[in-house]
Amino acid sequence: MCSHPVVDTKKEHNSTLQRPYYPYSLMARFFIRTMDMITGKKTTLSKLKLLELLASIPYREWERRQYANCTKRFKDPYCVEKCKRIIQWCRIAQDNEYGHLQMIEEKTKEDHEKDAWYLSYWIRTFIIWTYMHFSKYSAYFNLPWAIFFNAQFEDHAEHCYASFIKEHPSWENQPIQSKVVLGYGHFDNWADVFRRICLDERDHRNISFHYGGRAEYVEEYPGMPDIV
Ligand SMILES: [Fe+2]
Ligand SMILES: [Fe+2]
Repeated sequence: MCSHPVVDTKKEHNSTLQRPYYPYSLMARFFIRTMDMITGKKTTLSKLKLLELLASIPYREWERRQYANCTKRFKDPYCVEKCKRIIQWCRIAQDNEYGHLQMIEEKTKEDHEKDAWYLSYWIRTFIIWTYMHFSKYSAYFNLPWAIFFNAQFEDHAEHCYASFIKEHPSWENQPIQSKVVLGYGHFDNWADVFRRICLDERDHRNISFHYGGRAEYVEEYPGMPDIV
């Protein structure tokens, strides 16, 4: 998880609940619908794990692609600088998404919940493989579009987490046993953990809108990380 300055995650959670969803493109709506058809509309820990398994993929593809770009165009300092900024962001974001996956896995274990059918090895491998190819080719043909597309998923993820926390008021008093989760930061209870994840998704959303050419949709808040 990223290191963050002190941020009022409760206040930001409420602001996510009050903010309407971004008006998703047809393509984004198609992907979200397909995901709902596989996992069901209701947000569950299994569904979030599948989302987090997919979430780091585009960042990995963009990092690889930008690394190749700045090697190819090493004589152009402007291009190298831009590529390096995206690479740095992608590295932080993919580690962050992996952290989310680990923490949700820890919550699943603490709650003794079973994984849904779509998390079985071959099914999740197929879904990951499909999304990997989509991410690779969309980045190849039009990187700003691919980043803008991701911004819509991040917006959707932020809202999913915000509603999920609201649906589980008991998490406010549920202490954390897991050393893995406590290794990611200081959290008083499980609601705190999910509020932090929710805000991480807003950070991903904001930076994706910025690099995706829709900076007007960046949702600023006190203590937010630098975008550029
Ligand atoms: Fe995430
Ligand atoms: Fe994310």
